[in-house]
Amino acid sequence: MKKHDIGIIGMGVMGRNLALNMERNGFSVVGLDVSCEQLRVSEEKFSGKKISVTNALEEFLQLLDTPKKILLMVPAGDPVDTVIGQLQPHLNEGDLIIDGGNSHFKDTDRRGMELDAVGLHFIGAGISGGEEGALWGPSIMPGGRKEGYELVKPILTRIAAQVDDGPCCAYIGPGGAGHYVKMVHNAIEYGIMQLICETYDILKIAFKMKADEVQDIYCTWNDGELNCFLMEVTAAVLGKVDDETNQPVVDVILDQAGQKGTGKWASQNAFDLGVAIPTVNAAVEARILSAFKKERVEASRVLHGPPIQFKEKKEEFIESLRCAMKLTMVTAYAQGFALMREASTEYSFDLQFAEIARIWKGGCIIRARLLDSIREAFKEDHELVNLLISPHFASMVNELQKDLRYAVRTANELGIPCLAFSASLGYIDSYRQERLPANLLQAQRDCFGAHTYRRIDKEGVFHTEWQERMK
Ligand code: 6PG
Repeated sequence: MKKHDIGIIGMGVMGRNLALNMERNGFSVVGLDVSCEQLRVSEEKFSGKKISVTNALEEFLQLLDTPKKILLMVPAGDPVDTVIGQLQPHLNEGDLIIDGGNSHFKDTDRRGMELDAVGLHFIGAGISGGEEGALWGPSIMPGGRKEGYELVKPILTRIAAQVDDGPCCAYIGPGGAGHYVKMVHNAIEYGIMQLICETYDILKIAFKMKADEVQDIYCTWNDGELNCFLMEVTAAVLGKVDDETNQPVVDVILDQAGQKGTGKWASQNAFDLGVAIPTVNAAVEARILSAFKKERVEASRVLHGPPIQFKEKKEEFIESLRCAMKLTMVTAYAQGFALMREASTEYSFDLQFAEIARIWKGGCIIRARLLDSIREAFKEDHELVNLLISPHFASMVNELQKDLRYAVRTANELGIPCLAFSASLGYIDSYRQERLPANLLQAQRDCFGAHTYRRIDKEGVFHTEWQERMK
C-alpha cells in the first residue's frame, strides 16, 4: 500500500484546507477526525484527490510513511496535550509531531522538551492566513529543533505563500520561538484592526459617513502606501449588504468584540519582559471595553460628550487621517519587533527580524506593503533597537506626526474614543524624550516608601528625608 507523506489530525476548516493545499502541491495526505460531520464534509471536498480520511487512529498511523510526520490542527490548550498523549505510544524515535494551532509558546516549549526526552521531534508552527491562506498559501512560522523542521521543510515551504523573495516560511528558532512570533503577529493584528476601526469611527461620526463611503476611502488607501490585507478586508466588509434588512451588514452587527487570547498573551508577556506595547494593549482593552455593552448603554444615558460639530475641510482631514493611519501602523509593527527583540535575548530564540518581516509579506493577516521597508531596515541593521529610529521610519515619524496629532486632537474634541491612536502618539512622544518626568516619580517613590533614586550628576543610590522638608 502506498504510504502518505503527512497526516493531519483535526479536519476542521484549517486542517481540511491545509490538506487540499498539500495535495495540490504534490503531497499525499491522510486526515484523522473523530467528528462524523467533519469527516463527511472532508470526504466530499477530497473526492478525486490523493487525500484519505479516517476516524481510526490505528488506520491513520498505518497509512503514514516513516518517519511519521503528523500535523495537529486541534484547538490550543488541553486538546493538544490529549492528542499528543494518544499518539505517543504509537510513535517511534525520529517521528515528528507539528502543532499548527495558536498554542502558547510556553506550552510549546514544555511539549518540545517532553517529546525530545523520548526521542520524538516536535515543531510548534504558527500558521497565519485563515481559511483562504490555509488553502492557497499561509505564512508559516515553525519553531523547535532544526532537525525536526528539516523533516517537514519541503512540505511547509511548498504550501506556504510565495512572494518575490521566496516562500513565506522560515525556521524561526528553538523551543516555542515559532508560536512566540505568531503571538506577536496576532498582537500586531489586534493593533492594526483597532486602528482601522478608530478611523472608521472618526469618519462615521465626524462626517456622518455611511459604510459604502468609508469603503471607498479604504479602497483608495489600499491602492497606495497603506496597502495591506486588513485594509482590503475592511473595505470588503463595509460593502456587504444584509439580505434581511438591506442595511450594510456592519450596521447590524452587535458592537461586542470577541478574542481568543493571543493579543492578551502578548500584553501579559510584554509586561513580564518590561517592554512597552501600548498600541497593542489599547487594542486588547478596546475589545474588553466593547464587551461591556450593557454597562456602556447605561453609562451613555448619564455621561455626555461634546457636541459633534466638525468644521474642518473634509478632503484635507481625510488625507491627514490616512497619514496618521500609516504612522500608527508603523508603531504597531515597531512595538511588535521591540517585543521580539527582548524575547530573543530572554529566551535565546536568536530571531532574525528581516526574515520574519519577509515571511509576513505574504499569506498572513498582517501582510502589508510596509513590510518591505521594515525588512530593509532590519537588513541594514540587524541590531536596530526600534524601527522608529531607523532612517526611513524616523523621517516618517518627523513628517507625519502633525497628521497623527490632528487626528487625535479631532477625536478628542469630538469625544470619539481613540485608545489605539492616542496610545500610538503617546508611544512616539514618550520614546523620543531625552528626559521624562520619571525623576519626579522616583522622588515620589522615595518620599513615601524610601525606595531610593539615582542622580544625574554622580554615581550611587540616594535617599532623601522628604517628610522633614514637608513640615
Ligand atoms: C491568523 C489569525 C488567526 C485568528 C486569530 C483571531 O493569523 O490567521 O491571527 O490566528 O484570526 O487567532 O484571534 P481573535 O479571535 O483573538 O481575534
